[in-house]
Amino acid sequence: MTRSHFGNIPSVAPWSAGTSRKKIRYPEPERAYLAGLLHDLGELVNSIAVPDLFLAASERARTQNEPFYAAEMAVMGFTHCQSGVYLAERWKLPDELADTIAHHHDIEQAKRNLPLVAIVRLSDLLFSHRGLTYDTYVPSPAEIAEDSAWIMLEGEYPGVSHVNPDQFTADMDAFVGEVGKLVDAIFRY
Ligand SMILES: [Fe+2]
Repeated sequence: MTRSHFGNIPSVAPWSAGTSRKKIRYPEPERAYLAGLLHDLGELVNSIAVPDLFLAASERARTQNEPFYAAEMAVMGFTHCQSGVYLAERWKLPDELADTIAHHHDIEQAKRNLPLVAIVRLSDLLFSHRGLTYDTYVPSPAEIAEDSAWIMLEGEYPGVSHVNPDQFTADMDAFVGEVGKLVDAIFRY
């Protein structure tokens, strides 16, 4: 496991909580933090179960400028969403966390706590927009505004319509220190 591959996994957690607390007024930012922390659990599974394919998918995402889950599907025939939810069910994680793990890249399929899944999805997009992930795919503000997570949250929480992706990601720089501590803690061993 390398820091460059997995730094984004815990890093989305404070972004999920920050999105909830500062912009949306979602009532349970701690829940959003946990969902953000676990949403890419399947990437850890894949890196252990099929390390060579996982690295090939990472390389494809980086060199072909495509979302990582698309590269996984092309290289491995399945995604971290599928392997992650398999582990989530074995661990008997709550259904809403399993739904977040399974559907943060296709939130229309989520059946439980859709706002939570959408918050993690939106945080993931904003995080990528800031260029902090290991692949080179960077969604534009227009892509973010057209994403179903944004549209869903806009309908549910009026504050979302006032979020400017560039301004928000700049505001989130305050969390960079927290992100660094999390990543350092994980990769200490
Ligand atoms: Fe993901």
